[in-house]
Amino acid sequence: MTETTFIILKPDALRRGLTGQIISRLENAGLRIVAMKQIQADTSTAEEHYREHQGRKFYKPLVELLCSGPIILMALDGAHTVEIVRKLVGATEPLKAAPGTIRGDFTHISYDRAAERLGVISNLIHASDSHKSAEREMSLWFDKKDYCKDYLRCDDMYF
Ligand code: RTP
Ligand code: MG
Repeated sequence: MTETTFIILKPDALRRGLTGQIISRLENAGLRIVAMKQIQADTSTAEEHYREHQGRKFYKPLVELLCSGPIILMALDGAHTVEIVRKLVGATEPLKAAPGTIRGDFTHISYDRAAERLGVISNLIHASDSHKSAEREMSLWFDKKDYCKDYLRCDDMYF
């Protein structure tokens, strides 16, 4: 059985020219891209996306950061995709994110340093934390017509 998860390449990923390297890691793990688009996020959608953090000190800077430049939205399909992608992405705080993960390899900011700088951790990528979150987030950011699900990878038999 497969499931679909959702990621956002945040504006810092685009500004730093890291999108290709990040997407490669997801593709290399055998995940199938079923939707992908680059947009400029509007404040109300960004607020709704991160609504679980409403009231936290970093909420406003987080929404501002997400809206500070273009972002790339992706839906990825595969077995255990939510868990696999969270593993590849790594811990929220880059200081603690394991080497080999996206956040661990490409960033190193800590909560303390973030508090001195933007007031929020910039960590390149969002990944849904559960199947339920993925469903909610995909319906927020994608339309039905954004999906092209009907294809197989040539290495599909291995996954
Ligand atoms: P995400 O939702 O973006 O995939 O990240 P996550 O699950 O690893 O972490 P979460 O707790 O959901 O936090 C959402 C995003 O908020 C920023 N953050 N900054 N104290 C801070 O400065 C702080 N705490 C969280 C990060 O950008 C985090 O990814
Ligand atoms: Mg989260």
